[in-house]
Amino acid sequence: MSALIDTFGRAHRDLRVSLTDRCSLRCSYCMPHDFAAWLPSEELLTTDELIAVIEAAVSQGIDEIRLTGGEPLLRPDIVEIVARINAISNPPKLSMTTNGLALAKLAAPLVGAGLSRINISLDTLDRERFKKLTFRDRINDVFAGIDAARAAGLKPLKINSVLMRGVNDDEAIALVRWALKESLNLRFIEQMPLDAGGAWSRDQMITADEIYAELSKEFSLSPVANRGSSPAEEFYIDGGPAVVGIIGSVTRPFCGDCDRVRLTSDGQIRACLFSMTETDTRAILRNRDLTNEQKRESLVKAFHSTIEAKLPGHGINDPSFIQPTRPMSAIGG
Ligand code: 5AD
Ligand code: SF4
Repeated sequence: MSALIDTFGRAHRDLRVSLTDRCSLRCSYCMPHDFAAWLPSEELLTTDELIAVIEAAVSQGIDEIRLTGGEPLLRPDIVEIVARINAISNPPKLSMTTNGLALAKLAAPLVGAGLSRINISLDTLDRERFKKLTFRDRINDVFAGIDAARAAGLKPLKINSVLMRGVNDDEAIALVRWALKESLNLRFIEQMPLDAGGAWSRDQMITADEIYAELSKEFSLSPVANRGSSPAEEFYIDGGPAVVGIIGSVTRPFCGDCDRVRLTSDGQIRACLFSMTETDTRAILRNRDLTNEQKRESLVKAFHSTIEAKLPGHGINDPSFIQPTRPMSAIGG
């Protein structure tokens, strides 16, 4: 095994796997509410193909897999996918980022199949506001999903929130109070330019500094040491043990410690959320002239060539920055 080390010395251990670009919500920072340009199903990797790519990655030192979307729980065979990843020799740590809508039904079977950690996205506690933000009246399904995840033993339960100016930025403190009451590990994420509409603007973004200042009005925050490759700066709330995280993806980029690589649901390896190039695994997997062993070798090479070409950072703060054409929903968080 040779590790996936790039030209800047970063070792890659974390593979984010998007299982579908579809979603049951329409969060504006991720996709337009009338989005319809879904990937045709024959372009998605089948479960067998997906497992072959994951096995190749694990053989090269990937030891953590995060399943994402769109919404990963929309994949009909999600429980089987989790079980099959856990059956790989040297199984990677396995987590998922979900909107939580389907967790009431799926949390227990997912834990049974070997899922151990979960992040649930929720940006507001208010039903009307949720409806406005996501174009779906389903906040109660998220709350039911959180309860089911807790009952199924998923711990720690992480919640991701994106604050948007004039939309939900008045809810930061309420979200923290709620997370404290519910024993949830809340993290605020700066909004990145990944919306399909290209409407992101720097002045609309609520920055990490602003979030810190707002929370400091109400809580005493003290930094938690040992951040490692985690993008979240964590703070003890009023002395701890509860913590809140702030992910300053734009204003405090953590690219220098990045250990991630991504696989889209149509089988493209991306070195970064903001990459302008992709490496195609689907063409390898569907090439009838290759034996299984040749496919395996080509998949391994595909990971290495992607990582070797990885740029030092996302470049959002460079004047020449260009937003990738795929929206977040088609890349995977
Ligand atoms: N900027 C920041 N976070 C985003 N997410 C989705 N789109 C964006 C964006 N443009 C978050 C979701 C989810 C995770 C996968 O990424 O809220 O929690
Ligand atoms: Fe769906 Fe997540 Fe995108 Fe919201 S952020 S539309 S929940 S994929």
